[in-house]
Amino acid sequence: QKHLLGIEPLRSEEITTILDLADRYAEMERGTQKHGDALTGLTQINMFFEASTRTQASFEIAGKRLGADVMNMAMAASSLKKGETLIDTALTLNAMHPDLLVVRHPHSGAVNLLAEKVNCAVLNAGDGRHEHPTQALLDALTIRRAKGRLHRLNIAICGDIAHSRVARSNILLLGKMENRIRLIGPPTLMPAGVAEWGVEVYDNMAEGLEGCDVVMMLRLQKERMDGAFIPSEREYYHRFGLDAEKLAAAKPDAIVMHPGPMNRGVEIDGTIADDINRSVIQEQVEMGVAVRMAVMDLLARNLRACRTPQGVMA
Ligand code: CP
Repeated sequence: QKHLLGIEPLRSEEITTILDLADRYAEMERGTQKHGDALTGLTQINMFFEASTRTQASFEIAGKRLGADVMNMAMAASSLKKGETLIDTALTLNAMHPDLLVVRHPHSGAVNLLAEKVNCAVLNAGDGRHEHPTQALLDALTIRRAKGRLHRLNIAICGDIAHSRVARSNILLLGKMENRIRLIGPPTLMPAGVAEWGVEVYDNMAEGLEGCDVVMMLRLQKERMDGAFIPSEREYYHRFGLDAEKLAAAKPDAIVMHPGPMNRGVEIDGTIADDINRSVIQEQVEMGVAVRMAVMDLLARNLRACRTPQGVMA
């Protein structure tokens, strides 16, 4: 692949290749030698048009650990404020010959559009409610390391499915790896057409979590709700917030996940989030660096293979 725009175009073997390399980077990260040279001589530009803590920081750390020259564009202080379009901004940066462009944007499809206009590798760091591929990959790596496999698991994704790019990318990835996926949440927060997705749908946590191996909680994404029904947080927590009582329906060794940022007391009880015997939320963050190292390493190999001696894409 030239870009990483989503999970949708990836084959299961390609996902396994990424996870195997990320696993090696995760072990390297835990050792004393954290640095490699896979991106030496390459320029990585991070363009985040929407707030981020985990994704932006881990892409920056991943690039620096592998030797890239990393630039974080301060989008709020860019010429977008003077009316420049997304495409003109991208073409301007493209003229400076970056090799890797990491983009987060509030509009679904914006990153794919941008990828058509530039001649470097583009990585989707989350676009609207469409996809967040590196989040799904880091979630998959976390599950594989915790459970010893990434197939035939009962996986519940709970909460605001309709507005979640994390849910969409995870449903695609975990489905390709032949897991049984259950979506749990209020009917008003389920996407249209979910019945055709090959998943089971529940609006009751105790029923949906019965016998699950993995419980993945999601934040209420109010910034993308545009007028949709928002339950009161108190009522939402009562019915869909993960607490010890609801978690008891899952398998005793079920792991608890959350992509962050978390709203404690809304979708998850703080003691569950902090329970090191159940929660793998900090491992998810840790695997984020390793996965981003792996995907940039693999895209860089492809870039180098496609370049002519004059440095122009073939
Ligand atoms: N999970 C995730 O995308 O977090 P950030 O918004 O902090 O990057």
